[in-house]
Amino acid sequence: MFSTTLTSAAVLLSLVLQATAHAMPLPALGVTGSPVRNDAQRLSTAKPCGNTDIASNLDKATAVPVEADGSTVMLNVTNFNPGADGSRSVSVLVDPTGTGKNFVAAKVTKNGDPAPKTNGRDKVTLSLPAGTKCTAGKTGNLCLLSVKSSAGFGACTVVSQLSSGSSDSTPSASASAAPVSTKVPCKSSKNKRRAVVRLFLLFLPPSLSPFPSLPFYPSSLRIPTSYAFAFA
Ligand SMILES: *[C@@H]1O[C@H](CO)[C@@H](O)[C@H](O)[C@H]1NC(C)=O
Repeated sequence: MFSTTLTSAAVLLSLVLQATAHAMPLPALGVTGSPVRNDAQRLSTAKPCGNTDIASNLDKATAVPVEADGSTVMLNVTNFNPGADGSRSVSVLVDPTGTGKNFVAAKVTKNGDPAPKTNGRDKVTLSLPAGTKCTAGKTGNLCLLSVKSSAGFGACTVVSQLSSGSSDSTPSASASAAPVSTKVPCKSSKNKRRAVVRLFLLFLPPSLSPFPSLPFYPSSLRIPTSYAFAFA
């Protein structure tokens, strides 16, 4: 009885605290100047940048330079509430295409305070996965980062990579020197081919269909499961 009450109280308390948990990286996508508490977004898998529109803000963002090793990034994370709800301990995802649809985990090597006593800043160090090539933005050297605190708040931010082999450190000059890579993973063209094959088979007349005995086929316009798996 007592432990149940205690558990419920703890759950309730954490829910209350969650509702006021605000922290975010500096600078942040879609935020000009110093961010305020309301700029912190609630981040989720479906909305890795919260309500911030990625496409319209990507090229306007102040990009944090990736270190010369092409992988290390140092970010400042600020909080607007003390305690665990204002955690400056973050997890970071990176999308080298900048669309917000290709996020993979980055590794945080030095994290912030998970329960800061006051509002302030922590320097967070992370490394992009080995071989990451930032290709986003007009300059073709940006990566989009989703920075989420352990309390669920944060924001996206943009980092810029120097083109490898270039000794030029100004982003615009190095960007014009380096051709923009628009490499698409080969998986997507393979998937496109598969989709075309599926569509083609779906509209074959029953006499030519590999599944002539299936009921309602092809008028049901549903791809039989076995069929989908065969080409998946
Ligand atoms: C982080 O903060 C420090 C000191 O406040 C500042 O010198 C540095 O430029 C900041 N880094 C970024 C990426 O904003």
